[in-house]
Amino acid sequence: MVITAKQEALVVSSWNEMKDDAPTFALKFFLRLLEIIPSAAKRFSFLRDSSLPLDKNPKLKAHAMGVFVMTCEAATQLRKTGRVNVGANTSVQHLASVHFKAGVADVHFEVLKFALLETIKEAVPYMWSEELKEAWSESYDHLVVAIKNEM
Ligand code: HEM
Repeated sequence: MVITAKQEALVVSSWNEMKDDAPTFALKFFLRLLEIIPSAAKRFSFLRDSSLPLDKNPKLKAHAMGVFVMTCEAATQLRKTGRVNVGANTSVQHLASVHFKAGVADVHFEVLKFALLETIKEAVPYMWSEELKEAWSESYDHLVVAIKNEM
């Protein structure tokens, strides 16, 4: 079992606390990544071509939200089937190809994980624990490994 029922429950219950403001939290952790590695912005076609401030860019928010939702959903998929399934509209191979072509590197995935965990800690401090951190980490790591294995 890669994710236990308890870990899935921790991810899902904290997600339920955050979901109403999830786009705001998602944008926050992505902006944190761009604060730590400003050059990562150049990887996004829609950031290269845009004069909008980063925090006002709807496509940046949509990507960040995708990361957040997929990480949460990965917990349930991993618990049920032992593997990550990114959904009907895309595939791990497609995501690997898009990220590979865009030049997304290990360090981007690593810093995004740090930013995601930091944001969750700030969003639900009353739920935060080593176990909650581990549960989100496992889910994110499996999702990223699935993508990177195809890159
Ligand atoms: C595109 C998910 C991490 C950069 C995408 C897309 C999805 C996605 C769903 C849209 C694919 C399409 O065009 O059909 C994820 C997930 C991640 C992740 C689940 C981690 C778990 C990252 C990181 C970066 C990044 C760390 C670093 C900068 C990009 C770029 C694109 C993209 C540059 C292409 C955007 C464009 O120019 O159109 N990602 N992403 N992603 N992602 Fe990620």
